[in-house]
Amino acid sequence: MAVLVTGGAGYIGSHMVLALQDAGDQAVVLDNLSTGFRSAVGAAATFIEGDFGDQALVERIIATHGITAIAHFAAKIVVPESVADPLGYYLNNTAKARNLIAAAVATGVRHFIFSSTAAVYGDASGGAVGEDAPLAPMSPYGRSKLMVEWMLADTAAAHDLRYVVLRYFNVAGADPAGRAGQSTRDATHLIKVAVQAALGRRPGMSIFGMDYDTPDGTCLRDYIQVSDLAQAHRDALAYLRAGHDSHTFNCGYGQGYSVRQVVDVVKAASGVDFPVTMVPRRAGDPPAIVADNSRIKAVLGWRPRYDDLSAIVTQALDWERRLHNQRP
Ligand code: UFG
Repeated sequence: MAVLVTGGAGYIGSHMVLALQDAGDQAVVLDNLSTGFRSAVGAAATFIEGDFGDQALVERIIATHGITAIAHFAAKIVVPESVADPLGYYLNNTAKARNLIAAAVATGVRHFIFSSTAAVYGDASGGAVGEDAPLAPMSPYGRSKLMVEWMLADTAAAHDLRYVVLRYFNVAGADPAGRAGQSTRDATHLIKVAVQAALGRRPGMSIFGMDYDTPDGTCLRDYIQVSDLAQAHRDALAYLRAGHDSHTFNCGYGQGYSVRQVVDVVKAASGVDFPVTMVPRRAGDPPAIVADNSRIKAVLGWRPRYDDLSAIVTQALDWERRLHNQRP
């Protein structure tokens, strides 16, 4: 059974390809290499360079490779960029996803896994947020993803398609065996930025906002290790293949760390006291967001294996060193 992985040359998608292969599934990657890397996809997977919004292309791929499920990762993912370029986000994340879903319906692909985001909740400072919490995204990024959740629900009601929506919290770390990691150029995500500062890839880093209503004034996030997240997708696929109904799950550990705490962990793990500048808040950032993960554990039986911030940071450091050697 072949699975179409859009964005399979990217950070999370490449870990999904490894997880599928480890489980004996065939992966077919569709990626336009706008941020991903051809080298991130190993020889065991089929790679096609192209746009997931090209419905005719996707329909041809589905027919040619016997695709029975789609895992849709390809997206623009930077919250502040979405504030500056909302129409780019609505085109790429929303309008093109409509074409991908239409290709699934037209060809009879019945299983769809969608990479959604904790950004659909907006400010969730009241404690761990469950899937039924109010949806109030604070950025075009969050709204561009939420609209796809709605499209999937409406499509599943009208057609023979079932889906799992996975709402990712903050994804970090790398494949523990060192086969994949976050290679994105000009990365903006906290752990990647801090690790690059520790390894001298950048002169230092900034903390965006010290005046939030949180224990130390910096934003709280729930950091989930990328292979644990890939495992959640495998669990979702098994759930759909077993005939269960469409469902939505949070993917996080249920533990919040402040930006300052993360920076301290990176300094401790690397042994480098890199320069950190305090600057004003960044647009679109919710103060705190932590997952209630009881549903994914109960329904999918998801069992995370790498729930340890220090270990996650060490994986990110190891991967960054490896990249450093490849791209001096
Ligand atoms: N931050 C800094 N300095 C940096 C980078 C980030 O202080 O150089 C802060 C941000 O302001 C924020 C926190 O670190 O408070 C985390 O920021 P990231 O950019 O790493 O991640 P986001 O929380 O903005 O977004 C990520 C994903 C989204 C997901 C969201 C869920 O990109 O897809 O987590 O919380 F929806």
